Amino acid sequence: MINGSKRLSGDVEVQGAKNSALPIIAAAVLTKGENVFHNCPSLSDVDVALRIIRSLGGKARFSGGALLINCDDIHNDSVPDALTREMRGSVVFLGALLARMGRVVLGLPGGCELGARPIDLHLRALRLMGAEISERGGVLECTADGGLFGADIALSFPSVGATENIILSAVTADGTTTITNAAREPEICDLCDYLNSAGAKIYGAGEGTVVIDGVKSLSAVSHTIIPDRIVAATLMSAAAATGSRITLKGIIPSHLGAVTPVFEEMGCIADCRGTEMRFCAPERLRHTEVVRTMPYPGFPTDAQAPLTAAAAVAKGTSVFVENIFESRYKHIGEMIRLGADIKIQDRVAVINGVKRLYGARVRACDLRGAAALVTAALAAEGESEISGVRYLERGYEDFELTLSSLGADIKKL
Ligand code: EPZ
Repeated sequence: MINGSKRLSGDVEVQGAKNSALPIIAAAVLTKGENVFHNCPSLSDVDVALRIIRSLGGKARFSGGALLINCDDIHNDSVPDALTREMRGSVVFLGALLARMGRVVLGLPGGCELGARPIDLHLRALRLMGAEISERGGVLECTADGGLFGADIALSFPSVGATENIILSAVTADGTTTITNAAREPEICDLCDYLNSAGAKIYGAGEGTVVIDGVKSLSAVSHTIIPDRIVAATLMSAAAATGSRITLKGIIPSHLGAVTPVFEEMGCIADCRGTEMRFCAPERLRHTEVVRTMPYPGFPTDAQAPLTAAAAVAKGTSVFVENIFESRYKHIGEMIRLGADIKIQDRVAVINGVKRLYGARVRACDLRGAAALVTAALAAEGESEISGVRYLERGYEDFELTLSSLGADIKKL
């Protein structure tokens, strides 16, 4: 429940990155001994990943704010279908388990609210590295009897998940793997930093070409997960939509390189010093000309939904082009219920900013769409009721506590 059009103010510590934690948890499968992860966010998606680790025979528990994972006793090579259905990010266990066990049985992750979400790029790459893969009845069975070997892999699209799966298969493969057109997201660099500190030999993470020299084994280490740039962008959207001034702490400003300029174009000031950002929004936002979502370092698709909520109350018309997912505007229909004036044509959203949104009952149906509805409700006059909060809990740690600590009138029932 949100009672909107209240200014926010104060400081907020930004949580660890969900999309870094998930592949790193899968990567732990490759290590001997006990890993200690700091700054791992407590999210339902992370819980699913830890349940997968335990279902394989590994140990995973939080202790004193750190996440401890020991995979020495992993003996199982199949991931329960219920768990893979619950979270698409589970597909990244494919590469790690195949490398560790030489065989993996994994339910096809299936589509989700954002579209088909195929994994053809993952499977083509694993086959090039020696995997035999059969799909039957929605279940993938992968084997690599002679072990995986290095290969030269060119990705037709810089897929984040495919890049991660290739890296996880290649770190202990026989020989060298080269990925061209690899994804360059900061979460890929964080995964590679962790793997290299565990003994891997990965070069060029964050650039278009990544080279991995296979090593015999990896040993568990401690690692601190990077801050979540999408949560930061979401908090910026909430402050922008409510004409607020907040300070974000524990961020990496360079990870927001394509995001901050859009808010500045809309009239916000983002003063970054070290790992802090003092963010100040104007009384009323100006529109943004056009936002095109692109692979990193372009504007991140995950920040599109929250930003559309800020654009909905800006002065003027903003245009969004969603180039990454084929159906990532599910939240727009609900925003129109709040009074937004938005037209959608395929991948293009045209948003005519309105002076006021008005509270309403709305329904979230995906993670970032839920964040967009919360942002819009914070700006709206009157009370909003948002259902589908479980989507929010997938990626935002105690979001209602964070927002109420900034002065929002928000309750989770
Ligand atoms: C990761 O998803 C993130 N999830 C997504 O965040 C994020 O939106 C996405 O990367 C893009 O940045 C995690 O890291 C757990 P992709 P992923 O493979 O790996 C197509 C969130 O909100 N594609 O880069 O699935 C695909 O359909 C989530 O936190 C193929 O066609 O993204 C999509 O259109 C949502 N074939 C595009 O590429 C493939 O084999 C980008 O997908 C793989 C992908």
